[in-house]
Amino acid sequence: MPNFRSFQANPLSGSLGAEIIGCDLSGELSNQLIDDIATAFRHFHMLCFRDQSLDLDAYRRVARLFGPFSGNPIHVALPGYPEFVRVIVEPHQGGPTFGGNWHTDLSWFEAPPKATMLYGEECPPYGGDTMFANLHLAWERLSPTLQNMVEGLVSIHSGYTTYGVNAAVRAIKVVDEGWEVSQTEVEHPLVPYHPETGRRFLFINPNVVRFKGMTETESRPIIEMLLKEATRMDTTCRLVWRAGSLAVWDNRCLLHHAIGDYPNFRRVMVRTTIAGDRLPAEARNAA
Ligand SMILES: [Fe+2]
Repeated sequence: MPNFRSFQANPLSGSLGAEIIGCDLSGELSNQLIDDIATAFRHFHMLCFRDQSLDLDAYRRVARLFGPFSGNPIHVALPGYPEFVRVIVEPHQGGPTFGGNWHTDLSWFEAPPKATMLYGEECPPYGGDTMFANLHLAWERLSPTLQNMVEGLVSIHSGYTTYGVNAAVRAIKVVDEGWEVSQTEVEHPLVPYHPETGRRFLFINPNVVRFKGMTETESRPIIEMLLKEATRMDTTCRLVWRAGSLAVWDNRCLLHHAIGDYPNFRRVMVRTTIAGDRLPAEARNAA
């Protein structure tokens, strides 16, 4: 594990994720802190900064460390802050949980977001955790024979389900013209090279509707099998939220899953996504 001068990093599991203690993101961000955050992000893939007190302007400054806003064609943004959406769950609200399945955010973009960030404004005293799964490990743990069988596949990612699912939850508002994303289909390699580290990962999630050159019927059992492998318990970590926690995770090489087990409590989170690069099918010189 790397050494950090600016904070303490407590790993959340043997697979990914760390809780970051002892730094304040609301003020000036030193070069040392910025370097440490970049190193920790590459190492852990998911960071949760505890005990923060961020207004939207401070949150914006932290988000820009990771890159520009990715755009978000389906959710209604906060006034004056087009990169942020507020996800509000009221007590006894009922209905489906926003993000309540294993998924990747906006993988049907030509260049899927590099990272997703969530800030806890109001969190239940227990429940409402988020699960993460490491898709590098998912790839590396497949048997070599299966790796050989699937590594050349090209996945078709569709926005078809996203708009309908998001329109059905009450926690977040969708834009009227968002249905257009349901027409979107984008190709990505099933096993891309990470744009920053060059490490391969199994880019599988429920937006994959079929593989190029195969029917949906032929593709479905492979998709299901890979999703099952990708979400084995020993590739995951579980994040317990508290108000003032800011999480940022790599939205390419992780899956995430919201747990809607807090029917009696209010939960308010502010989300943004960071622009990414196209996912390369060929190795290139990693920095
Ligand atoms: Fe999500």
